[in-house]
Amino acid sequence: MSERDHKVSRRQFLTYTLTGVGGFMAAGMLMPMARFALDPALKAGAESDFIYVCEKSDLTEEPQKFSFKFDQIDAWYESEVQHDAYIFIKDGEVTALSPKCTHLGCTVAFGTNAEHPDRFFCPCHFGQFTKDGINIEGTPPQRPLDVYDVMEEDGKIYVGQINQRT
Ligand code: FES
Repeated sequence: MSERDHKVSRRQFLTYTLTGVGGFMAAGMLMPMARFALDPALKAGAESDFIYVCEKSDLTEEPQKFSFKFDQIDAWYESEVQHDAYIFIKDGEVTALSPKCTHLGCTVAFGTNAEHPDRFFCPCHFGQFTKDGINIEGTPPQRPLDVYDVMEEDGKIYVGQINQRT
């Protein structure tokens, strides 16, 4: 094969160079966008980590409010957020309820309504839930309070992600 066969014409050189530089620039622009879009999905597993909340011996059959903190990452912003859970134990089974009303998202509290001290009460539109978090018919919420995944280890209670009940 002669040296002449390997020669690259000026037109080919410009085509290769511009294609290479153009591709490099396009990748530089698209990679951050792709990372921004995919990163939260890839980190979804991290949010399902369990967080220590209390000792099992602290629990009673009556729902009690416990607060816990964890680091939340929104894109590049990291902050410490606090969440609450109403936790109780019944027949050895631990249940952790979200205090977020399933009507429009206000915060419910247990035992604050003098007429129904054994229920969760939502002050926004007077929604009510039983001790187990089941919505009371005739009040605005149409489904039970959400529940946290619960893990018990060495007498300690941890909560994970929130799940909807039907
Ligand atoms: S937000 Fe709770 S009843 Fe409406």
